[in-house]
Amino acid sequence: MTRNEKLEKIGLTIEDFYKSQQVSSDLAEVILYSVQAGGKRIRPLLLLELIQAFGLELAEAHYQVAAALEMIHTGSLIHDDLPAMDDDDYRRGRLTSHKKFGEDMAILAGDSLFLDPYGLLARAELPSQVKVDLISELSLAAGSFGMVAGQVLDMQGEGQAISLEDLKIIHANKTGKLLTYPFVAAGLIVQAQQSVQDKLRRIGELLGLAFQVRDDILDVTASFEELGKTPQKDLAAAKSTYPAFLGLDGAKNFFNQTLDEAVDILTDLEEKTEFSGGEIQKIIESLRLNG
Ligand code: IPE
Ligand code: IPE
Ligand code: MG
Ligand code: MG
Ligand code: MG
Repeated sequence: MTRNEKLEKIGLTIEDFYKSQQVSSDLAEVILYSVQAGGKRIRPLLLLELIQAFGLELAEAHYQVAAALEMIHTGSLIHDDLPAMDDDDYRRGRLTSHKKFGEDMAILAGDSLFLDPYGLLARAELPSQVKVDLISELSLAAGSFGMVAGQVLDMQGEGQAISLEDLKIIHANKTGKLLTYPFVAAGLIVQAQQSVQDKLRRIGELLGLAFQVRDDILDVTASFEELGKTPQKDLAAAKSTYPAFLGLDGAKNFFNQTLDEAVDILTDLEEKTEFSGGEIQKIIESLRLNG
């Protein structure tokens, strides 16, 4: 299956889930507006590529885990854009959910996208213990041990002089943990030995940190057309970011070094285990910034 076919099937898995929901078609419409807006879907794609890298054939259940992750990510973006948070008007090249449907529906769409994934995971055809672990790890990555707590620190960091170590903690939580999830989840699904799971988690953590640093850099350097969201928002909101801390060149260097470190561990994994990391490496390299 090609990358595009995988991306399409991730979207269809989420659509099918919401089309089977009979209680409020308005709610399903608001949710699918954001899901179908053309996100890059890097998190679910990484998960599917990782499972294949360990030699497994992709099954429906794997797409359901991938869909669950993309649902939580999309919910996090809907809430991140709300007036009480980053107050953004555009996302994925479209009006944000609250601009299009009102704050009440946007909040509730986010609620659904946070709560539904656990049911989807619980019903997937996977061994029970694997599902319990997948659910536990997703909760840790998304809630008050991960993304939500990172968002709190991000808000509290606005206009504050914080240390680089504190900034790393913000990024590791608000973005890093959901980007680490594909690596952790793949390790659980293929039932890799603990030392392999530890390496996978470390690659995910590095990639997750780099991903938010990249987002901070692009906020300064990229256009609305490239981003599908309003650029130069971080300075306006006095956000704590890597470019604000290290300057643009310093942030770019840190970004490249962090990606290099992730690739080194990936290479080590390839040399020592039955793991073909070529596609993962391609995804990582596609994140590099020119100039
Ligand atoms: C944007 O994530 C928010 C961050 C965590 C940096 P993505 O850059 O993955 O956004 P989409 O899903 O492609 O829209
Ligand atoms: C988002 O960070 C992290 C989330 C948990 C959604 P940003 O606020 O920098 O993401 P963008 O730039 O709005 O996509
Ligand atoms: Mg934010
Ligand atoms: Mg934002
Ligand atoms: Mg940003």
